[in-house]
Amino acid sequence: MLAAFVSTPAPKDPLSVLEVGERPEPEVPGGWTTVQVKAVSLNHHDLFSLRGVGLPQERMPMILGTDAAGLDEDGNEVVVHGVVASPGWTGDETLDPKRSLFSELHQGTMAEQVAVPRRNALPKPAELSFAEAACLPTAWLTAYRMLFVKSGLRPGQTVLVQGASGGVATALIVLGKAAGFRVWVTGRSEEKRQAALDLGAEQAFENGARLPERVDGVMETVGEATWSHSVKSLKPGGVIVTSGATTGFNPGAELNRVFFTQLSVIGSTMGTRDELEALVRMCAATGVRPVIDVELPLTQAREGFERMLEGRTAGKIVFTLP
Ligand SMILES: NC(=O)c1ccc[n+]([C@@H]2O[C@H](COP(=O)([O-])OP(=O)(O)OC[C@H]3O[C@@H](n4cnc5c(N)ncnc54)[C@H](OP(=O)(O)O)[C@@H]3O)[C@@H](O)[C@H]2O)c1
Repeated sequence: MLAAFVSTPAPKDPLSVLEVGERPEPEVPGGWTTVQVKAVSLNHHDLFSLRGVGLPQERMPMILGTDAAGLDEDGNEVVVHGVVASPGWTGDETLDPKRSLFSELHQGTMAEQVAVPRRNALPKPAELSFAEAACLPTAWLTAYRMLFVKSGLRPGQTVLVQGASGGVATALIVLGKAAGFRVWVTGRSEEKRQAALDLGAEQAFENGARLPERVDGVMETVGEATWSHSVKSLKPGGVIVTSGATTGFNPGAELNRVFFTQLSVIGSTMGTRDELEALVRMCAATGVRPVIDVELPLTQAREGFERMLEGRTAGKIVFTLP
């Protein structure tokens, strides 16, 4: 079957090891089922996988992709929850030390077919297209958990989103606006800042800019490039929720500010199946839809990866299959 995959890591030149070609059809363990993939979205995680981050050589060749929407074995439309719990795990699967995402231990979703645990195939509402649904399980679910499960913030409070155009960043803007937060954004170009305003951000600033007032919460996925600004931008008692570090994992901690202004730093990763179900319902109930930058056939996956590597994003990049 057709798939986008990696056979050897390339930490410095990830696109050099991206392959789009034939891979064997999935083996289906007991309790698992097969989904015929109709759409899959690209996440920064896939670039990390090409670099070998979290994906050692011995697990390759590995099909990329952490989320998908498609048809189950009975022809029902489904959206694929991306967090795979270990056998026997009960409770919040994001807390399972042995959990994984597709493309980490099990073959990923960027293929004509993917094997998934039965519980990971959720009904897709007809209101959402396959492409829209495919954006939800990774970037949008991550944003949902950051804002609504982890932050402790309430509608009406001010949230700063670091990054304007990325998959998680655009989800944070749209979901935050829909829930009644005052959403402020930083973006690297005038064009990206304007796009964030068009999505519902109240104000958009250059990276590192002094804000008109301090904010209640900061949503961080950028890491080293924005961390210091995030710490400085919070009110006393404010909260940073971090789920990613695109520009580096080791910014200065600025502990003096953290303790003196009594900040909370909260980690967040993906979300549970229940939270994905709630997110799907939120989209259906409110009319909110994932922001799709571009849809490309999977055969043109390289073009999508290039856009993300160069930072030429405006929401989610989606690959489609016939
Ligand atoms: N923990 C989890 O469960 C989870 C889930 C999803 C994603 N993540 C992580 O979250 C991060 C974002 O993922 P994504 O898929 O949204 O990636 P993406 O679509 O490539 O977006 C990258 C974002 O980073 C910003 N950015 C990149 N370089 C920057 C720089 N030098 N200075 C300032 N901003 C910069 C961009 O801001 P501009 O708009 O200004 O260009 C953009 O908003 C990744 O690190 C990913 O691994 C984690």
